[in-house]
Amino acid sequence: MSSAPHLRLGINIDHVATIRNARGGPHPDPLRAAHMAARAGADGITLHLREDRRHIRDEDLEKFIAQVELPINLELAATEEMLDIALRHPTHAVCIVPEKREERTTEGGLDVARLHNSIAPMVRKLSTAGRRVSLFIEPDPIQLAVAEAMGAQVVELHTGAYAEAALDGKAEEAQTIVEKLAEAARIGTARGLEVHAGHGLTFDNVKPIAAIPELVELNIGHFIIGEAIFIGLEAAFARMRQLMDEARA
Ligand code: PXP
Repeated sequence: MSSAPHLRLGINIDHVATIRNARGGPHPDPLRAAHMAARAGADGITLHLREDRRHIRDEDLEKFIAQVELPINLELAATEEMLDIALRHPTHAVCIVPEKREERTTEGGLDVARLHNSIAPMVRKLSTAGRRVSLFIEPDPIQLAVAEAMGAQVVELHTGAYAEAALDGKAEEAQTIVEKLAEAARIGTARGLEVHAGHGLTFDNVKPIAAIPELVELNIGHFIIGEAIFIGLEAAFARMRQLMDEARA
């Protein structure tokens, strides 16, 4: 009996940096989180260098490239500044995402059909420089066709709408979106694209997505970092108690 191929897990460590930046010091260090992800079996590390640098900063990117053993997927907006940064920093992959300054998180897929004239040259320049280019898109056949025509090697399907429907208890809507994602994964694969997915995935909602056989990689961040607070909190409390007790012993 043959088993399904390994589904790669890309860990997005942006929100370790969010917590670090709240105090302006070096702790918690996202680099340490990346090393832990590697030890725990992650297949890649994803960083989103935002225009406003609200979490990952330029110096993080430099350190990650120098010190992280896993392939790095750099997410960025389609701007000249970000293109320049991506060309100067040799990461394994670059994922182009839509970005609005006022949004809390990426709100949807990149409309590569509408933005063709600005995205296509970026894909070309990054590919020529040896980057594996990924486009973060909605599970829509037109977006997939345009992504292929632009020469992207990878598409990442936006799972945010699915995650929201699942969270709101809208099981039928969530199932409809899973079917759309599965169909997009089939179409993308048939077009020769490597198909990834991500956004809003959690312990509760990951399985229907992970079961889509054509998907090669999932990128997951906020939930894992948030959940780590609870899974790891007892150990951190206990360690501080122990150190204080030792000082008085
Ligand atoms: N994939 C892409 C393209 C993203 O922009 C993000 C969020 O930065 C993720 C995956 C991870 O989403 P989440 O943090 O909700 O797991």
